Amino acid sequence: MPYLQAVVKEALRLHPPGPLVIRPSVTGLCCKPVMRDPYLWEDPAEFKPERFLPASPRSGGQEDEMIKEEVLKYIPFGSGRRGCPGSNLAYLSAGIAIGVMVQCFD
Ligand code: HEM
Repeated sequence: MPYLQAVVKEALRLHPPGPLVIRPSVTGLCCKPVMRDPYLWEDPAEFKPERFLPASPRSGGQEDEMIKEEVLKYIPFGSGRRGCPGSNLAYLSAGIAIGVMVQCFD
């Protein structure tokens, strides 16, 4: 369900549960401002899951560029070698939890 996954991603962009990457870093890094930076995100304060849906089919090269760009600016799970190894499980669990709630919602 691509839209549900986009909702989960957008929620984590605006409200990362761990806003600080706790590893010591040379410059100091807090993921919340990065994920609300107006130079990186269009309408950064708006809840827009659509930003995580591909607008149109992309070529392999464009897809690679998009992934590279996202790795640098979308960091609720940190990034790089010490990034969160549980991110896929977290996306799945959050998607299932929200999906079940929405399905039961009257
Ligand atoms: C919404 C859920 C989660 C969030 C937002 C989250 C976020 C993070 C963040 C920000 C880091 C630090 C990454 C860095 O320093 O660059 C991290 C590390 C880690 N996470 Fe998660 N995490 C989540 C779920 C999980 C789950 C479900 C697991 C395991 C099943 C997990 C296992 C780990 C481990 C083992 C590390 C340490 C990795 C290392 O230091 O090499 N996390 N997580």
